[in-house]
Amino acid sequence: MIKSVQKIICLCLIIELVLLHFTTTGSREDTVPNREIICTGTESHMSVPSNRQKHYQNIRDRYTNCTYIDGNLELTWLEDENLDLSFLHNIREVTGYILISYVKVRRVVLPRLMIIRGRNQFKVQKQPTGFALIVSYNNIKTLEMPSLREILSGSVGFFNNHNLCHIRSIQWQELLSGSDAVFTYVYNLTLGEWKCPPCDQSCVSGCWAEGPHNCQKFSKINCSLQCYKGRCFGLNPRECCHLFCAGGCVGPKQSDCLVCYKLS
Ligand SMILES: *[C@@H]1O[C@H](CO)[C@@H](O)[C@H](O)[C@H]1NC(C)=O
Ligand SMILES: *[C@@H]1O[C@H](CO)[C@@H](O)[C@H](O)[C@H]1NC(C)=O
Ligand SMILES: *[C@@H]1O[C@H](CO)[C@@H](O)[C@H](O)[C@H]1NC(C)=O
Repeated sequence: MIKSVQKIICLCLIIELVLLHFTTTGSREDTVPNREIICTGTESHMSVPSNRQKHYQNIRDRYTNCTYIDGNLELTWLEDENLDLSFLHNIREVTGYILISYVKVRRVVLPRLMIIRGRNQFKVQKQPTGFALIVSYNNIKTLEMPSLREILSGSVGFFNNHNLCHIRSIQWQELLSGSDAVFTYVYNLTLGEWKCPPCDQSCVSGCWAEGPHNCQKFSKINCSLQCYKGRCFGLNPRECCHLFCAGGCVGPKQSDCLVCYKLS
């Protein structure tokens, strides 16, 4: 029994890789390796790096070409607004948490990130739940994660990000799956808040930034009640995702999953 489950999960992974290959061929921005590149994340929290220039290079070297982060993605103390963060473009999955803190780059873009598993969470004093995504004290204008479809465990917190746009237009209950997961947004700086441009007219609901590709996508809100874990590819009861899917699907079979619920 256990063996056959593993087999199915492996099959699911292979299909994911094939899907990745097809969905990325012809991409204009950058070429994506069509195989999984697993990289190990960090657990430094908000500690100040001793050499800030080298700190950026360390982060870039660690994550260049990665598709899968085993652990936490921590982007901290990137204080030059012209730093190039395009090395993050291939990341599709993070097993721990994402921390973004003291970053002054204007746009932080994770165009392919689909899932944050939150197996390891960032703890903050006085906050009842751990965070799978925590974004604090940045000077980012947009945090663009248009492919993000599910946060399996843990909460989301945004604290005192001057200039940050669009985050409150996102329906976080679509993304949050943890039983005690909550979305917290605190803006408590004396400086007034930035006036943000509207989402693209084509968006059903909110967005991550301007442009039609930044509209939030849905596979949970408004699904039929019959759907296991609430994910679907259409609104009628026959359009539920397979139980092995996370983040949604394009059809009913396990091979139609966007991401596998379990990988190991
Ligand atoms: C990243 O991928 C590109 C294109 O496949 C390759 O040329 C480059 O050497 C890779 N860089 C690293 C650090 O693996
Ligand atoms: C706002 O900031 C002050 C001082 O930093 C803090 O004591 C207070 O709890 C904050 N309020 C909220 C809602 O976080
Ligand atoms: C869900 O359904 C409601 C009521 O029909 C609709 O107004 C809303 O736009 C739908 N939301 C999404 C994300 O499809």
